[in-house]
Amino acid sequence: MAGLYFFYMAEELLRLENIYKNFGNVKVLKDVNLNIKKGEVVALIGDNGAGKSTLIKVITGVHRPNSGKVFFKNEEVNIKSVSQSRKMGIEAVYQERALCDQQELYRNIFAGREITNSLGFLKIKQQRKEAEKILRDYIGFTSKAITVDSTVMGLSGGEKQGVAFGRSLYFNSDLIVLDEPTMGLSIQETEKVLNFVRGLKNENKSAIFIDHNIIHVYGAADRFVILDRGEVVGEFMKDEITREELVQKMIELHESGKIEVEA
Ligand SMILES: Nc1ncnc2c1ncn2[C@@H]1O[C@H](COP(=O)(O)OP(=O)(O)OP(=O)(O)O)[C@@H](O)[C@H]1O
Ligand SMILES: [Mg+2]
Repeated sequence: MAGLYFFYMAEELLRLENIYKNFGNVKVLKDVNLNIKKGEVVALIGDNGAGKSTLIKVITGVHRPNSGKVFFKNEEVNIKSVSQSRKMGIEAVYQERALCDQQELYRNIFAGREITNSLGFLKIKQQRKEAEKILRDYIGFTSKAITVDSTVMGLSGGEKQGVAFGRSLYFNSDLIVLDEPTMGLSIQETEKVLNFVRGLKNENKSAIFIDHNIIHVYGAADRFVILDRGEVVGEFMKDEITREELVQKMIELHESGKIEVEA
């Protein structure tokens, strides 16, 4: 029994307990509980404004919850900043915000995890060299036009995603958080993103995946967590629900929200 208990504990990567988040008087997250196991891809779905991005921002250290507990690798943690969450092994991939537009790629890749010498001085040369390796080996950029000194601004949406993925692979992150990573991407770029998400399982990595496209979500995730106006209102393993049923659920939720607004 003790052995089984230990096994179960070892499987869990992230646990959120009773998370509340308010912006002023607006209660955006209400008593949210969420578990992510190692090697599991969990999709967070819900209507616009449901609180999905806010929830993952609590996990990545952008926002502090008003109350509730966060456990990572079975230890309670108090995530105060994005750089802290990165150091813990949580990497965010958002199309727009993960990278800093004005910065060169080599600075972006090492943001918050700079290579320094024993006195704390930045080792720029080494960072550039490692960044070069990430661009070619981890991301697979072959274009000569993209170098470690390129600014993020000049990259396409898919290339930006590539940088964020490469960074998470290089730093061997345990949890990858993807907030609408396929937004605005071509079909081919989208396929690359979905393949990346599906491939995480093989390395026993975990992901939280937000996407409004149920086809993407259904193909990539093992479990679906539905958020509605700040609350978790449903949770399904993939073998418990078909894609059509999931689409139907989302339509019903959307319509129930509308009726409430109109009343
Ligand atoms: N920094 C903020 N300050 C005030 N209100 C905010 C802030 N961030 C989010 N909100 C509000 O919280 C609610 C949830 O927003 P959130 O971005 O989490 O939704 P979402 O589920 O990601 O929606 P979408 O699918 O449209 O991206 C919205 O009503 C939004 O206006
Ligand atoms: Mg959002």
